[in-house]
Amino acid sequence: MNNLHDDRKEYCSGELLESTAPKSPLELFEAWFSEHRGSTEIDSTAMTLATVHQGQPSARIVLLKSFGPEGLEFFTNYNSQKGQAISENPSVALLFFWPNQERQVRVLGHAVRLTAAENDAYFQSRPLESRVGAVVSHQSAPVADRAVLEERFAQELERAKSHGIKCPEHWGGYRVVPQQWEFWQGRPSRLHDRLVYSLGKDGWNLERLNP
Ligand SMILES: Cc1cc2nc3c(=O)[nH]c(=O)nc-3n(C[C@H](O)[C@H](O)[C@H](O)COP(=O)(O)O)c2cc1C
Repeated sequence: MNNLHDDRKEYCSGELLESTAPKSPLELFEAWFSEHRGSTEIDSTAMTLATVHQGQPSARIVLLKSFGPEGLEFFTNYNSQKGQAISENPSVALLFFWPNQERQVRVLGHAVRLTAAENDAYFQSRPLESRVGAVVSHQSAPVADRAVLEERFAQELERAKSHGIKCPEHWGGYRVVPQQWEFWQGRPSRLHDRLVYSLGKDGWNLERLNP
C-alpha cells in the first residue's frame, strides 16, 4: 500500500455564506466558473459525468460546451457506454473540482438529447479533424489496434475534404437539466461550507449541510 495518511492540506481560500449566496444557483455557478477560468490555463470546462447502467455507476470526464437557465450541455457519441447508460436511465450527476479556489460543484439532474439541428450546428463549428474523429470512432467499442483507427481516419479525412462531412446520427449533445446544485467551499479545520439548492415547486430552496 502507498500510505498517504500524512498528506494534509488546510483549506483557507474563501467562504460561502447564506447571506451572500445568490437566489439562483446558476448565478453562483457563473461567478465561480469565471473565477476559475480567470485563474488558470487548466480546463475549467472539464467535468466529471456520472451515469448508472444496470445498477453500475460509471464516471468519466466530458467538456462543458454551454450552460444557462436550461441546463449544462456536453457532446458525445450516443452509442457510447455513457449514451447507453443515459438511454436506460437519464438521471446523471456532474462534478466540477476547482482546486485553485478549493471548490467543488455537484449537480444532480436528468439528461435530454439536443435536437438534430443543434447537434449539426455545433458539429459543423468543429475543426475538420475533430469532425472526422467523431465519425470514425465507434466510441467505447473494442478496436483491434491503433492502426485500424488511423487507417479509418485517413480514408474518411480524404473523403471529407472532397465531399464534406455530415453530423452522424449517433453523435450529438445532451443537456443536463439540474434538480439540485451543491456548492462546496473548503474551510479550515474541515468545517467546510456546503450550500445546496434544490428545485421545489416555487423555485430554488437553499440549505446548509454539515461538512
Ligand atoms: C479532458 C477530457 C475531455 C474529454 N471530453 C470528452 C467529451 O467532451 N465528450 C466525450 O464523449 N468524451 C470526452 N472525453 C473522453 C471521456 O472521458 C471518455 O473516455 C469517453 O467519452 C468514453 O466514455 P464512455 O465509454 O464511458 O462512454 C474526455 C476526456 C478527457 C480526459
